[in-house]
Amino acid sequence: MPRLAVLGYPVSHSRSPAMQNAALEALGLDHEWSYGAIEVPPEGFEEQVRKLAAGDYAGVNVTVPHKAAALALADVKVEVAHWVGAANTLVFEGGEITAHNTDVQGFFHSLPAHLTDLDALEGRRALVLGAGGAARAVVWKLDGAGAEVDVWNRTASRAEAMCKDIESDASPVVAPVQGEYDLIVNTTAVGLRGENPFEHLPLDRERFDPRQVIVDMAYSDVPSALLTAAEDAGAITVDAIEILVQQGALSLEIWTGRQPDLDVMREAARRR
Ligand code: ATR
Repeated sequence: MPRLAVLGYPVSHSRSPAMQNAALEALGLDHEWSYGAIEVPPEGFEEQVRKLAAGDYAGVNVTVPHKAAALALADVKVEVAHWVGAANTLVFEGGEITAHNTDVQGFFHSLPAHLTDLDALEGRRALVLGAGGAARAVVWKLDGAGAEVDVWNRTASRAEAMCKDIESDASPVVAPVQGEYDLIVNTTAVGLRGENPFEHLPLDRERFDPRQVIVDMAYSDVPSALLTAAEDAGAITVDAIEILVQQGALSLEIWTGRQPDLDVMREAARRR
């Protein structure tokens, strides 16, 4: 029976096992496949992965803080994982470990169709808040799709370094004008602990526009204050769980070759 798991530290909060097992069941694969959660500290990560790869595991998802280490230990690295500098999905096959990054395409799939149709992002203006791993993935994708990307970060030097590092045309900005963007993506940690985003980010609660798409990648058990304000203004919003579902669906497809039911995954991921 091929096994799958999410590796993190901590990992008990992860919605992936419920979501992936629901998807496997809906595909009729739950008698063949299973998906668990393994908590592993950074110092034990590589050894644990090699043990799973040598055993009956077909692959794993990797979450905080292991995404860079997952890329580093892989024998084969798909291009997007290489550029983003992180892997969230490992495949164990034929004695080899292959690193994928479905966070990038998962983010893209979570956007509404008017931004993801062919060439739809060409010339659109996007503001990315943050300069960590998630920002890197988002900027790489949006820049590659032809959007004009501005990056704001609390520590401005990190935004500059990131834009250069991924060889993008994205520009670091210090004082973005909220109304000018078609898409705004929060990749910062603001909101994770219920902070008021309007105190920490260069955004004004009153300045969202109904033509905008606002994405908040910060997980929270309470509705995101950022998205609530954007919704109140009539904007389209995308939350962290939708991105989790989309990346998870792509990972499951890589392992099993089957396309899971997104609604089944959404329902399981939101059930708490
Ligand atoms: P990731 O999880 O994407 O890898 P990270 O490397 O932990 O992210 O970085 C978290 C991001 O949240 C950073 O952009 C960080 O800004 P700094 O580079 O200035 O540290 C941002 N961040 C965290 N707390 C913040 C706050 N209170 N206000 C604004 N930005 C914040």
